[in-house]
Amino acid sequence: MCGIIGYVGQREAYPLLVSGLEKVEYRGYDSVGICTADDTLHLLKEVGRVEQFKNHLLPGTMGIAHSRWATHGGVCQKNAHPFIVREKFTLVHNGIIENYLELKEQLRGRGDVFSSDTDSEVILHLIAQNFKTDLLSAVRQTVHALRGAYAFAVMAKGNSEIVAARNGCPLVIGVGNGEHFLASDVAAFIEHTKNVIYVNDFEIARVTKETVKISDFEGRGIIPKQREIFWNVEQAQKQGYPHFMLKEIMEQPLTMEETLHVPLPALPTPKRMIIVACGTASYAGLVGKYVIEKVARIPVVHETASEFRYKEPLFLPGDLVILISQSGETADTLAAARLAKEHNVNTLGIVNVVESTIAREVDDVIYTRAGPEIGVASTKAFTAQLIALYKLAYHFAGKEFTGKKVVLLTEQVLQLREEIKKIAERYVNNQHFLYIGRNIFYPLALEGALKLKEISYIHAEAYPAGELKHGPIALISEEMPTIALCLESETYDKMFSNIQEIKARKGKVIAFASEGDAKIKEICDDVVYLPKVDELLSPLLVAIPLQLFAYTVALLKGCDIDKPRNLAKSVTVE
Ligand code: G6P
Repeated sequence: MCGIIGYVGQREAYPLLVSGLEKVEYRGYDSVGICTADDTLHLLKEVGRVEQFKNHLLPGTMGIAHSRWATHGGVCQKNAHPFIVREKFTLVHNGIIENYLELKEQLRGRGDVFSSDTDSEVILHLIAQNFKTDLLSAVRQTVHALRGAYAFAVMAKGNSEIVAARNGCPLVIGVGNGEHFLASDVAAFIEHTKNVIYVNDFEIARVTKETVKISDFEGRGIIPKQREIFWNVEQAQKQGYPHFMLKEIMEQPLTMEETLHVPLPALPTPKRMIIVACGTASYAGLVGKYVIEKVARIPVVHETASEFRYKEPLFLPGDLVILISQSGETADTLAAARLAKEHNVNTLGIVNVVESTIAREVDDVIYTRAGPEIGVASTKAFTAQLIALYKLAYHFAGKEFTGKKVVLLTEQVLQLREEIKKIAERYVNNQHFLYIGRNIFYPLALEGALKLKEISYIHAEAYPAGELKHGPIALISEEMPTIALCLESETYDKMFSNIQEIKARKGKVIAFASEGDAKIKEICDDVVYLPKVDELLSPLLVAIPLQLFAYTVALLKGCDIDKPRNLAKSVTVE
């Protein structure tokens, strides 16, 4: 969480930093700040979004910038980055310094005065204290005192370099002609260069306009590996859509089709799989469990990464741990990957961002081809993850997954936008929603409810429909509508009975049903009909109207859809 950027070159740094910040703002958007340098430091920082900086200009051809998601210290101007210490040193930081309180105590004991409540400012005070003549040496000395996760960038007045260090948070350098960028994400500078150098954990980069030097924390030089990024600027733009989320929903026929063609690594068939992920990726994993167990008849354990990492998990010979992540940077999912590796268990990543940390650390990786996903609420990454999981399930069953037909049908499902809007208009003022499904539709109910919560701030709960009688049915009233996933399936009759039980208690029901199901229309208040497909493949179609419903409700409520309050797209701290 938090986005950092730096620029050193021959152009005015400020406009480049502002446009870069817009691209990494999805990582956090409580407050924003920029510090540029010529022969002195120039600082601008405020609570709020980068938008407010567009009509300003700070001088200088180098600078650092930050978009914040608050962890330590409230959302206020003094806690925004960059920080300046002794009028000479300035820093931006992404991550958490776990031992900052004890470091702060020591620094205070030596007379340092702090201007913020953040953990980040401590790093800068330490650097200032360790500085003799060389910024790189001061940073190297400082990293040995830090405990926690970080990517930070620091500049010193009168010095034409940016020094950046990484341990646990993403950091990438963009190599231009007589100029260099650094950032949490290539999106920040992709319009200027596609040549990048990924900085690894326990490495420090010293960047000037002409050179990039990388060394490890002990000072040993490392030859930087330069690579070319293949995605383009247009993919990271709205292309006429009012929101990234809508654009990303509408792209799904393409991104699913692309992911159908990804090659699978040569994997031996495991005896058991453990799927670990967070958020939407975790719900994709739960669909994966149903699919793999049904198609390949191999047992799958599904785990939430933040729980898995602290529970001393039991691994068995022949296990494969599958980590699913859009960003490839989620702290808990990454920790789970590392835990599995410590136990010598094979790891497989299903990751969207190429060369992200999880992708680089796992033994094998399947790259989903969703392209850059900017909207904080994940949509196209989810359906791409599903495709990858179907492919894997069929692979382990010794068959080929040919999902082409169902992917074609997604075009038809996207046409439901207007119909869904009319339904959303009728329910927009409800404060609570219940989502129910059985079997493979249960994870979809979870994902549908998550989408609604995230972007419309409406309370939504998901339950396996069979659990209704064990509690949630007590909530049913005219004020609590239920979204029932009742498509043609082995459990259709059971779902139908559940819907009747809700109707008998005056609950409103919006059903997602299969085309041709006339009887469901008789009992439900609203029905969204989807093309008939095999139950096993239905998640690929149901996901889309659920996304459209949440999007439309949030739109009608006037919510900030691409940047919902309190959230960030990439959760790089615990
Ligand atoms: C955050 C995002 C979600 C995402 C989750 C996992 O909570 O807001 O959209 O599903 O992180 O992220 P990952 O990048 O690991 O898929």
